[in-house]
Order: sequence, then structure tokens, then C-alpha cells
Amino acid sequence: MRRTIFAGVGHYLPERVVTNQELEKLMDTSDEWIRERTGIVERRWVKEGDTVSGLALKASEMALERAKMTSADIDLIIFACMESDSEFPGGGCWLQEKLQIPGIPALDIRNQCSGFIYGLSVADQFIKTGHYNNILLVGAEIQSTSLDLTTGGRDMAVLFGDGAGAAVLTASENGERGVLTTHLHADGVYTKKLWAEWPSVTHHPRITPEMLETDRIYPKMEGRYVFKHAVTRFPEVIHEALEKTGYSIKDVDLVVPHQANLRITEAVAQRLGIGMDKMYSNIEKYGNTTAATIPICLSEAWKEGRIKEGSLVAIAAFGSGFTWASALIRW
Ligand code: ACO
Repeated sequence: MRRTIFAGVGHYLPERVVTNQELEKLMDTSDEWIRERTGIVERRWVKEGDTVSGLALKASEMALERAKMTSADIDLIIFACMESDSEFPGGGCWLQEKLQIPGIPALDIRNQCSGFIYGLSVADQFIKTGHYNNILLVGAEIQSTSLDLTTGGRDMAVLFGDGAGAAVLTASENGERGVLTTHLHADGVYTKKLWAEWPSVTHHPRITPEMLETDRIYPKMEGRYVFKHAVTRFPEVIHEALEKTGYSIKDVDLVVPHQANLRITEAVAQRLGIGMDKMYSNIEKYGNTTAATIPICLSEAWKEGRIKEGSLVAIAAFGSGFTWASALIRW
């Protein structure tokens, strides 16, 4: 049976480390509040001039090297990101130009924190049907330049970081290993619970000097509301994957949840009935890097030996939309 396997995973984080103490100087917040409520200690921010596709390139190069492939082997790019280098085109074409592989398709996915799993599901269909053999799936984000760095925006500003992760996906006829199942969900009733309103196509011009004076140009979230939904949806969508494949949570070697908040990860572990030793977490170092989070985690977990050939890995995400998703992988 033809399945999709992870041939290589890679990641890249900008060098600039931004600690909670640094944020204390910009807004009324504290290291203690941020650690207690979120588990975040520091995050990475880009420098002036950095691009989403530039971060993605570095993550992709690592994934290709670990897969023992070059960009010439890739048949399709799938790029998950909230925002590209420009309003349009999307990140896929910007990355393609940097990888120097003209002509192959470049597909953009905009599903925020669930973007990588949405992309994995699309890639899996293409590989299983034999349409493509090698797919480069990337999640990359620059969040820091969109944040309100005043006290008014502190609930969002302390959470997010920049980064990129990538996976080279390939076909295997082995049948045992690979992506066993993927599950995607969304509910647009909740679009305004976590969103960035302006610039907007509903206005001409899309952005005005008056708009720039308001806080509606910054991402907004009803934090508690999002939190409550997240802790329900994560276990639900992981159970969906387990039920589909006939596995139990006890069979899973590692759960890699989207890193939104350490308190969410802990609540999910409790609801799943597993210890934190089975939950991967690196939020203390990077904060929430949206679509980049899961591939960064997979790359680090693989490097640390926590994911090996044969490991049963559950990945799950929840985010703006709302969107949520899961996948079960026999690595
Ligand atoms: N520093 C200090 N105080 C703060 C900060 C801060 N950074 N942010 C908020 N506060 C204050 C609030 O103003 C409030 O003060 P008040 O009581 O005087 O009104 C108090 O702290 C409590 O605020 P809450 O919002 O109730 O705090 P909560 O415990 O809910 O934590 C948080 C907030 C961390 C944002 C949490 O709600 C959360 O993690 N939500 C989910 C985030 C998430 O999952 N996002 C989804 C993915 S993101 C994506 O898809 C793009």
C-alpha cells in the first residue's frame, strides 16, 4: 500500500532572542505573569528586512539535506502561512524562486495554526494517489511585525514568535510506515474570536491614515474563549484519529500539539489521560509560531531522538477560524 512518509524534517529560528524581561520594557507585563499563564520564557523575532520565504528556505534546506534530496527532486511545494512576504502572491512562489525550481506547482494554505496539518492532508492525498512523489511542505511565519507592542496589545504580544519548519514528504510502498490518517475541521462562526481585521478589502483604499491610528490593525483574540475551545477540540480530534485507525492513546509514543499555551498542553494531557512526558513542548523557547510550530517541534523531536523510525506520533492543532486538525503518523 502506498503511503506518505516523512523523509526529512528541518527548522529555522531567527537569531534574535526576545525575553519576557525585554517585553516588560515595552508594555505593562511581567515575566511572572507570562510564565504562569503561558509557560513562555522567550521567543525569536526577525530583524528588519527578513522575509517569511527566507526563513522557510533555511528550514527547507535542512529538511532536504536530512532527506538526502535536493530541491530538484521536489514535485510540489505546499506553503502554510498566515501572511506571505507580500499581500500577494503567497509564500509558495516566493520560496520557489529562492529554491530555483521553476515550473512545479506552489500551493498556499491559509489555515493559521492548523495550516501545517491541512497541508499534510493535501500532500497525503496527492502522494497516495500517485500524482506526486516528493512534496516539500513548509510552515513559516513572521508574527512579530504585526503585534501591538503597547499595553493595549499585551495579551497577544507576549504569545507569538517567528520561525519556520519544513518536511520533505515522499512515497513508500512499505505500507506499515507513514501518515495513517488526517482529520480536518473548521467553524467559521468563530472568525471574529481570533482575527486581524484591517487592512480589509471592504474599504477603498484598504488602509488609511485614520485606520492606522486605531488598534483594529492588530490581531485580536478573546483569549479565554479560545482557550476553552482549544482544550476541548485537541483531545476530540486526537481521539478521532485513534478511533479511525484502531489505536489507543497508550499506543502513541509522542503527542505533538500545536504550541499555543503550556496550560493548554497540560490540560490536553490530562484530558487524554497521559503524562506530560508523552507531550512534546518547546513553547518556553519560541512561543506560538502558528503554522511553523508543528514542523519545528517535529524537527527538534526527531533530532533529540524522541521520534524514531517506527514511532507512533499524533499531531494536532487548533487556531484562528476556528480551525482544528489532527494526524496519526507511523514514523
Ligand atoms: N501581562 C500582564 N497582564 C495581562 C497580559 C499580559 N501580557 N495579558 C492580559 N493581561 C491581564 C488582562 O488585562 C486581565 O486583567 P484584568 O483582570 O485586570 O482585566 C488579566 O490579565 C487576565 O486576563 P485573561 O485574558 O483572563 O487571562 P488568561 O488567564 O485567560 O490568559 C491568555 C490569557 C494567555 C491569552 C489565554 O487566554 C490563552 O492562552 N488563550 C488561548 C490562546 C490560543 O490558544 N490561541 C490559539 C492559537 S493562536 C492562532 O491561531 C493565530
